[in-house]
Amino acid sequence: MFNQIILLCRPGFEKECAGEIMALANHHLFPAYIQTKDHSAFVSLVISSEQQTSELITKIDFRQLVFTRQWFATSKEKLVLPETNRLPDILQTIKKFDSHYYDVELDYPDTNEGKSLSKFCKQFKPHLLSSLKKQNLLLSHSNWRLHLFFTDSQHVNIGIAPVENSATDAMGIPRLKMPRLAPSRSTLKLEEAIHWFLSIEQQAQLIKNGMTVVDLGAAPGGWTWQFVQRDCLVTAIDNGPMQSELMRTGMVEHLQTDAFTYAPKKKVDWLICDMAERPLHVSRLIARWFTSKQCNHAIFNLKLPMKKRHASVQECITLLQQQLAQAGLEFNIMAKQLYHDREEITVCILTTANN
Ligand SMILES: C[S@@+](CC[C@H](N)C(=O)[O-])C[C@H]1O[C@@H](n2cnc3c(N)ncnc32)[C@H](O)[C@@H]1O
Repeated sequence: MFNQIILLCRPGFEKECAGEIMALANHHLFPAYIQTKDHSAFVSLVISSEQQTSELITKIDFRQLVFTRQWFATSKEKLVLPETNRLPDILQTIKKFDSHYYDVELDYPDTNEGKSLSKFCKQFKPHLLSSLKKQNLLLSHSNWRLHLFFTDSQHVNIGIAPVENSATDAMGIPRLKMPRLAPSRSTLKLEEAIHWFLSIEQQAQLIKNGMTVVDLGAAPGGWTWQFVQRDCLVTAIDNGPMQSELMRTGMVEHLQTDAFTYAPKKKVDWLICDMAERPLHVSRLIARWFTSKQCNHAIFNLKLPMKKRHASVQECITLLQQQLAQAGLEFNIMAKQLYHDREEITVCILTTANN
């Protein structure tokens, strides 16, 4: 029934998304191949058997995937729907799966064409949900979510994803509201990063009142603002001006100096960095902060080059892993191209208290 996995990504990043999933499929010895189109915002991984498809989508840790926003297993054949009264055909296909689902998500590619389906999906979902309920196809303890992936209103791939090994937000897109008082839209990148990389418990434990933060390339202060909101004391490094309201909180010290030469007097809880610099240059800087014991945790951006972006990410992550391991640190490193990231990815490094 299911012989492919569809992976949603940022438009223009299909090659990176494909390269990453192929490397993992090869690593797990699953014979598979890729079908994709540039700027389509999705990739299909075609797998030879149904059993291998469900093994792959449960075995590969979704959180390992840097360039994938959401994924689900489906059949390669699209269901062709009539122009009106689409529900009967859809329900008939779902019933054939002979299973129950925790929830249903309606997906479409994050392209201009795809976005035109958003209204249709919004209107269609309540009808689908009520039919699924009537037919007793929804079950709160099911491990699977149902996915309907529309490429237009008459073509749909119907599939499933493991609830615990896929994105919680529909299409992997968090609905964050721009905070009215934040100094810049970049603030949403850090807010998304905190939610993605840290569980609710970790957020409470690792970002506490009075903790110290250094923000490299801080102006006008969107990232600093997120930590000030969480009652932390921030040293903001940037030659550019910080938002005056943020400075009036008294929680921020602004130093107009070079981020590559600045060193804190005492180890800080968090290092954050959002500078548009070469990714390897930033990775070396961050590694140095950890190996010289200047910070406990970090969240930072790596701007990606125009070409060989997947290779560049791997090079940076490997460098960080090697340098931190050589320094004898215990750490967890995670990376993701977040929804609010553009030509970049966000990386989070957490170290344990023993370091
Ligand atoms: C993308 S902006 C940061 C936006 C900020 N995170 C926010 O949320 O408002 C990058 C900043 O890095 C600063 N920057 C770049 N290179 C720097 C360096 N070597 N030292 C200090 N600041 C630097 C720039 O002045 C710029 O303000």
